[in-house]
Amino acid sequence: MKKKILLGLILFLILAQFVRIDKTNPPVVAANDILNMTSAPDDVRSMMKRACYDCHSNETKYPWYMDIAPISWWTKGHVNSARESLNYSEWAGFPADAKKHKLEESALKVRKKWMPISSYLIAHPEARISEEERETLAKWFESQM
Ligand code: HEC
Repeated sequence: MKKKILLGLILFLILAQFVRIDKTNPPVVAANDILNMTSAPDDVRSMMKRACYDCHSNETKYPWYMDIAPISWWTKGHVNSARESLNYSEWAGFPADAKKHKLEESALKVRKKWMPISSYLIAHPEARISEEERETLAKWFESQM
């Protein structure tokens, strides 16, 4: 019985590799990006690129292990829903009141450590931001409101 379950699992994992995710990023229009539109300072720019842009932008990088199903499906799901709710690459498209709301949310989520998602940090230690950096980032979001 145990052997059958194990074999079934192995077979599933092999077949799963044939279901590929689409890794093409939507086109990046520099002029529509929040960091360019606001002439963000370098420290903010680098924090956002490190800690947020794999999910909330059109500049997602997929390391090799993101190609392994089912991790790849799970990752792609995160990227899709993150882009849908807030895409910093398409900042120009948000109406003024939506911008204000998203900035408010961004500051809150960074301060409360809800973002970046903790499971992402396991595989991306470079995306960890210190307490101090969080405060800098949150203050910057608020300064743009
Ligand atoms: C691993 C992917 C990932 C990373 C990295 C990430 N986020 Fe998110 N974020 C999500 C997902 C998925 C959602 C939507 C579901 C949810 O709210 O949990 C979201 C939602 C949000 C929202 C709410 C948007 C709205 O209006 O509904 C904000 C604000 C946000 N993230 C800010 C950030 C900031 C700022 C960073 C970087 C410091 C960041 N996120 C890093 C995946 C990510």
